[in-house]
Amino acid sequence: MTRARAIVATLAGVSLLGLAGPVRGEGDPAYGEYLANECTACHPPDVTDGVIPPLWMLPTDYFIEALKAYQTGERENPVMQAVARALGDEEIASLAAYFAYLREQKGGS
Ligand code: HEC
Repeated sequence: MTRARAIVATLAGVSLLGLAGPVRGEGDPAYGEYLANECTACHPPDVTDGVIPPLWMLPTDYFIEALKAYQTGERENPVMQAVARALGDEEIASLAAYFAYLREQKGGS
């Protein structure tokens, strides 16, 4: 197998993990699902009595703006600043796409 073929095969394998489709600029829900594993360590996957809401409940614009605000330091929580600064625009868009998908599944708007 040539090196280029090996890379193509690897990329194809990665996209099989998720819901569908290649990683795109506008946000790939499958990639978002993969990234969200890190978030559910602290953010509950479903509604609880706790103070941290499940991320899929947040409106998409709010979700993106919150992460940008942690990146710039406008929002001051050090834990979320570290989390947000490790994410690029494509990661944030993909997470937003995945949580929007979950919201639809759960009957939200
Ligand atoms: C180590 C625990 C931890 C991890 C991991 C974590 N978060 Fe958070 N997150 C928090 C806490 C605590 C807050 C509330 C911080 C505050 O008061 O600003 C928060 C707040 C947020 C908010 C704002 C919520 C709101 O209602 O305004 C967003 C959006 C968010 N997190 C997204 C994420 C995403 C996306 C990931 C995964 C990539 C993630 N978080 C991973 C602990 C965590």
